[in-house]
Amino acid sequence: MNPTITPLTGHTGAEVRAIDLSQPVEAATREALNHAFVQHSVLVFRDQSLSPAQLLNAVQLFGDAFPQHNTRFAIPDCPQIHYISNQDSFPDGRRYIPGEGWHTDHSNDARPPKATVLHAVRLPDRGGDTQFANMHSAYDALPDATKQRLDGRLAIHVYQSSHSTRKLMGLSEENRARVPNAVLHPLVRTHPESGRKAIYLNPIRIEGILGMDHKEALPLLDELLEHAIEPRFQYRHVWREGDLVMWDDRCLLHKANGDYDMSQVRYLYRIMLQGDIPA
Ligand SMILES: [Fe+2]
Repeated sequence: MNPTITPLTGHTGAEVRAIDLSQPVEAATREALNHAFVQHSVLVFRDQSLSPAQLLNAVQLFGDAFPQHNTRFAIPDCPQIHYISNQDSFPDGRRYIPGEGWHTDHSNDARPPKATVLHAVRLPDRGGDTQFANMHSAYDALPDATKQRLDGRLAIHVYQSSHSTRKLMGLSEENRARVPNAVLHPLVRTHPESGRKAIYLNPIRIEGILGMDHKEALPLLDELLEHAIEPRFQYRHVWREGDLVMWDDRCLLHKANGDYDMSQVRYLYRIMLQGDIPA
């Protein structure tokens, strides 16, 4: 049986039904799903129930696992799969809500992941939506003068930007040794599969723009972010039990919302897939 793929908005997201990702998938279906992923940037598979090992197997339809930088959240019996939970705290006791604030995953890597996959295990009764903003649409809507200003510009990405208001969980010494100090990526990248251009921003990781004074760079980055997250570029995912959501980190910003009853557990499996060097 062929899965059905139904767009969720005019620009971002499609719902996939009539497929069980715990079962083998035919080559033609695999091709159709990869095509849909590039076309819609977010795929929402409904009604899945996968163990960490089954999830690891299923995402290989789309690529190879990306080794995550902070191994603290690895699941012991399947360490390529990490968890996202509202039950962890910073060393000072404050609750840690992963993914709050607009960002794209692991852009401080020389080859950032192409995709992130989350599979809901436990959800609160309401809230905890994930928002996505489409950076192809945001780029296309920029004035020509801004496009020219960004042309050829490189941004400096680090583990934790000193300009970010959102703080990440610190890295252990061992993890720090594996993570680059800083990498350069174009502020506008071209999607390696579709050829479309996208703004490549990350407020929690970008430390500055190469060769541009902070006095000019920081307001430019703020202005770009304000534009990029306009509601017209967004798809907001309301989680349902059984959801497996996969998104394209090469052309989206995303954001978690810690707006739900924190006495309820929110727990998801997470895995990322290897990407290319942004160009
Ligand atoms: Fe994220």
